[in-house]
Amino acid sequence: MTPLARAATMLVRGHWRGLALSVVLQFATCAFGIGLMATSAWLISMAGLHPSIAALSVAIVGVRFFGLARGIVRYCERVVSHDVTLRGLASLRVSAFRRLEPLAPARLADYRTGDVVARLVDDVETLDHLFIRVVGPSLTAVLVAALVALVIGRHHGRLALILVGGIVLAGMAAPAVAARLGSRAAARVVLARAALSAAWCDLVEGLPDLLVFGGVAAHAAHLGQAGAGAARAQARHGALVAAGSWSGSMIGELTALAALAAAVPLVRGGGLSGVGLAVVALTALATFEVVGPLAGAYQHLGAIRAAAGRVFAPDALARAARANPISTAEPRGARYEACGLSFAYPGAAVPALERVSLVLTPGRSVAVVGPSGSGKSTLAHLLVRFWDAEPGMLALDGADAVSLEPGAVRRCVAFAEQRTRILTGTVRENLRLASPDAGDDLLWKVLETTGMAASVAAMPDGLDTWLGEHGHRLSGGERQRLALARVFLRPAPIVVLDEPTANVDPLTERQLMETIVGLARDRAVLMMTHRLGALTDVSEIVVLLHGRVVQRGPFAELAGEDGWFRSALELERTFI
Ligand SMILES: Nc1ncnc2c1ncn2[C@@H]1O[C@H](COP(=O)(O)OP(=O)(O)OP(=O)(O)O)[C@@H](O)[C@H]1O
Ligand SMILES: [Mg+2]
Repeated sequence: MTPLARAATMLVRGHWRGLALSVVLQFATCAFGIGLMATSAWLISMAGLHPSIAALSVAIVGVRFFGLARGIVRYCERVVSHDVTLRGLASLRVSAFRRLEPLAPARLADYRTGDVVARLVDDVETLDHLFIRVVGPSLTAVLVAALVALVIGRHHGRLALILVGGIVLAGMAAPAVAARLGSRAAARVVLARAALSAAWCDLVEGLPDLLVFGGVAAHAAHLGQAGAGAARAQARHGALVAAGSWSGSMIGELTALAALAAAVPLVRGGGLSGVGLAVVALTALATFEVVGPLAGAYQHLGAIRAAAGRVFAPDALARAARANPISTAEPRGARYEACGLSFAYPGAAVPALERVSLVLTPGRSVAVVGPSGSGKSTLAHLLVRFWDAEPGMLALDGADAVSLEPGAVRRCVAFAEQRTRILTGTVRENLRLASPDAGDDLLWKVLETTGMAASVAAMPDGLDTWLGEHGHRLSGGERQRLALARVFLRPAPIVVLDEPTANVDPLTERQLMETIVGLARDRAVLMMTHRLGALTDVSEIVVLLHGRVVQRGPFAELAGEDGWFRSALELERTFI
């Protein structure tokens, strides 16, 4: 199914009654409009012949009725069609997010933040044109053509033929040409808008670095170019939309003239009254109320198609991410085992990990060490299913971890990333992310274990202190300890900590290390670290070099044998 067909199906699914009602109301508005023009034309022309007022009374009532009814029905139609479209867009946005979510964080890194926002906001919004401007009016145009053929065709076949021909020309041929001519320009608007959104996000996110390195002016110039590009694309597309609308109304007016020309001989021949001539001319114009703008509206089809393509593009990636069979088993996390684990990032020439084996069970603490870039974080990311390893290489409670639902794996594994992420919110909100029902006593206790209690107590609102965007009001060490507290709070049997003490002072580091090793009394603990001297009490140290395990064993053993560990430890003792 094409992305456009998928978008249409999703918009209609669950909302088809509302959509059908909106088409009926659109048709009724148009039909009342035609009725209003016809009775008004008859009334004005008839009044010119000075008949008695009684002869005009029915037409006067008709004009009032059609005038009022048209306004009321138009209002109802706007309410219904916008309501149903907005509901459809809301469900489309939720499902677009659901498709992006399995890609996070690993595969989503290929997308720029502003681009993701543009997909969820602008592109989904562009899809509202699909029903309001394209599908709804097209269906109404068909109904109007049928009405004209039925009512006028019964008395004057030729006139009906001219009108229906005009409707087909303005409602089908012109929109088809418009859609073809405008599709590239419309798609360019979508891409230019996404580029602008991405450039803005880059500027806001990178502002501190840009300020320090004096890059604001250059980035602002880049933003200006992106803005100008978007404006140019929009102007080009706008001109095409205007040309489309103009051609639609031109066809309408030419059809009215042609109908008039065909009606004059009828009047001469007595087949049509003089008053009827005015009715024919104005009825023809009213008929094009919904058909005329179609050519302009179809210019948006390219934008709608491009937006649908972008909203549904991550689909294939998400399917690839979930290519393995999903088991609904809910593991307990009693044993997590990597067996000959190898992994290469897409497009990478060399693997990041090669034949790494590891066992995590409650009661054991394992430290993975090695130089920068040796694959420590990659291993952590595979364990929490940010990336997927080969099936069969990771076994959680004996089950292939890759075949399990990623959420089920993450319920067993509490993880603190190397790059600490604090959500925009309060201390309490950040902690409760790990345990939504945790009471204040528990929150303070866990803050105590990471040495953060005194800092939070000194904050103006304690646990309710607002930490700012991504926790920017905290120091690097405070951010890290808050993230650690969040992990400790999570009642998961396996704990994976990537560089848990990288930003703290030596005294706090020693206390944190004691707490982390203490966790291993009843949980499985895996930590990646560069602080080798602090690993005296861990059960096993694994040394990674270029993604391979080159040494493993307890601290005393590794410190006593030749190899990377002893050299690095000696260096650390000399310099720190
Ligand atoms: N998303 C990615 N895409 C491609 N390559 C990556 C990606 N993430 C990491 N790498 C590469 O994989 C290798 C291992 O990276 P990894 O982050 O696992 O190292 P690390 O041991 O954690 O390093 P550090 O001690 O600096 O944190 C590096 O060469 C890195 O450049
Ligand atoms: Mg790392």
